Amino acid sequence: MKEIVLKTPSMQGRIRIGEDVLTVLDELTQGQKNFVLTDSNVYALYPSFFGKYFANARIFVLPAGEEHKSLESLNEILSEMVKAELHRTSRVFAVGGGVVGDIGGLVASLYMRGVSLVQIPTTLLSQIDSSVGGKTAIDHLGVKNVIGAFYQPMEVLIDPNFLKTLPKRELKCGIGEIVKYAGLNSEIYRSILENQDQLVKMDSAYLTGIIELCVRHKAGVVERDERESGERKSLNVGHTTGHAIELAFSLSHGESVLYGMALETAIAIEKGVCEKEYGANLLKILLSAIAIPPKPAVDLSSVERWAKNAKSDKKNTDDGKIQMAVAKSEGEWAMLSCDFDDYCKSLKSAWKILENRVL
Ligand SMILES: NC(=O)c1ccc[n+]([C@@H]2O[C@H](COP(=O)([O-])OP(=O)(O)OC[C@H]3O[C@@H](n4cnc5c(N)ncnc54)[C@H](O)[C@@H]3O)[C@@H](O)[C@H]2O)c1
Repeated sequence: MKEIVLKTPSMQGRIRIGEDVLTVLDELTQGQKNFVLTDSNVYALYPSFFGKYFANARIFVLPAGEEHKSLESLNEILSEMVKAELHRTSRVFAVGGGVVGDIGGLVASLYMRGVSLVQIPTTLLSQIDSSVGGKTAIDHLGVKNVIGAFYQPMEVLIDPNFLKTLPKRELKCGIGEIVKYAGLNSEIYRSILENQDQLVKMDSAYLTGIIELCVRHKAGVVERDERESGERKSLNVGHTTGHAIELAFSLSHGESVLYGMALETAIAIEKGVCEKEYGANLLKILLSAIAIPPKPAVDLSSVERWAKNAKSDKKNTDDGKIQMAVAKSEGEWAMLSCDFDDYCKSLKSAWKILENRVL
């Protein structure tokens, strides 16, 4: 197995990647009370995993879906933790996708002001992104990730075998975040450019290889800027517009990021922020990822209907402008800031550029 140490001012954690990582659970589950958070799909798919490692743990099964990343779920989980009489020395294991990881991290940070946390991500998106870096959150009143905390896991165990049961649409969601890294890291960009076929076919050996590159990139960024005061903002490439789309359409997070990144890249090219040839390559990669079936029919042309969601994005500042992290040139990014009217106008022309190739 591969190991990456992630050291931040708040704590030192370890990320292990490989088909044998779960064996370390024999040790990690000993010596304290354990509380497991998972969702209904993962729990139903992996009975022998839960039976083998968590026979004596309290297991909380959240109904699957983003709508359960809510204050109501937070209340229920925390209440169960109190009823299970967990202590400061107890440990939370979050076994699932980004929803379970985000809310699991938040309850671990809150219970008795913080108990140790192990992330076991089971979706491609959570393996390459959300399980690493300590961002935890729930959605509230229609605003994504608006209540949360930075709270680093002591261990992240990434076993690509979990991806074997992942539906194609969920794999595609992870590809949205992989392409995000291509906008930030030249090794990942080159790899995708040279292996677009494998990416689009969602070849499992190729995806397994790229997980480590993405996690190493993210871990490095988080080490340098845990609290997102500078470089960590780069990891939001495509996300301002992606979140606005996610809130307005029945698209998942990863699919929305693909559209968001394509639109923001087109805007950045038009505004002269993103280098033309590089931007055109990135758009080509993004459009071929968007075209992976199942391709939802989404019409983003009535920009006013959904763009207002970008106003409530956490990345914005008090000057009322929309802030976007965009790809600039190979391995480089930039912040792009527009007032709302300009944002809507730019989105309209960006959508026109994409429209014929996306629909
Ligand atoms: N904390 C962060 O840094 C960060 C970064 C990116 C995204 N996120 C958050 O992550 C969430 C999206 O994560 P996600 O895409 O993993 O969604 P998810 O957790 O909803 O999982 C997607 C679906 O896959 C199912 N599933 C999970 N593992 C499976 C497996 N091995 N086999 C079959 N089905 C499986 C789930 O039950 C669910 O239905 C969003 O809430 C987003 O805001 C957080």
